[in-house]
Amino acid sequence: MRKKIVAGNWKMNNDLEAGYKLATEVNNIVKDEVTSNVEVVLCTPFIHLTGVSKLISGKVKLGAQNCYTKKSGAYTGEISVEMLKSAGVSYVILGHSERREYFGETNAMLAEKVNIVLEGGLKPIFCCGETLKQREDGIHFDLVRNQLTESLFHLSAEAFANVVIAYEPIWAIGTGVTATTEQAQEMHAILRKHIASKYGEGVANDTTIQYGGSCNPTNAPELFACPDIDGGLIGGASLEARKFIDVIKAIK
Ligand code: 13P
Repeated sequence: MRKKIVAGNWKMNNDLEAGYKLATEVNNIVKDEVTSNVEVVLCTPFIHLTGVSKLISGKVKLGAQNCYTKKSGAYTGEISVEMLKSAGVSYVILGHSERREYFGETNAMLAEKVNIVLEGGLKPIFCCGETLKQREDGIHFDLVRNQLTESLFHLSAEAFANVVIAYEPIWAIGTGVTATTEQAQEMHAILRKHIASKYGEGVANDTTIQYGGSCNPTNAPELFACPDIDGGLIGGASLEARKFIDVIKAIK
């Protein structure tokens, strides 16, 4: 049985005090109200990680939003996997479209990041997704399949088993326009088939594929009920404890 995971990507939001307050609220309400077998991940900015790790427990895990490709050394301003581990991190978001767009992250660079995260024993949440133009041009399936092929398909099946995929159509991120359940389910099924073509049905069936992009308490129940959607990567709605909890509770 594959794991259901709802992760909150705080992006570059919350000062320390606000972040600690939010993490505490989420942790408390998850404990009181969430009965399903879902894993909850808080992907905070780097500076919050150590503090938040002391505020969470049980189903609630810690995630980072990025890391560097090298183990240590003269790389001013970067953060290594070992540092993340020492802060209590379990997951690392890699290849978010914002990092691809604003920081020039390529599929090849992401393959290196995937390697270093897995070597360090952490789990990548690997993001993929197309722009509106790419969807309108009809190249979205090929493009997203290619993102997986180029950044992940060098992995052994054993290593791939630790990868979480997040499908985030770029046109749905922060826009209030979510993918329809049909569009999301269609892409998730195509991704699972692509994984099966490389690693076999067993591995594909066990792979968690999250949906991200304007996911909120209203649309989450229908999205999460789709057979190939195994949770969400939540931006805006993860910044308010009540909203985030209501998204998490949409997992049955
Ligand atoms: P929104 O939920 O704000 O659309 O952001 C989605 C996202 O980018 C999560 O990584």
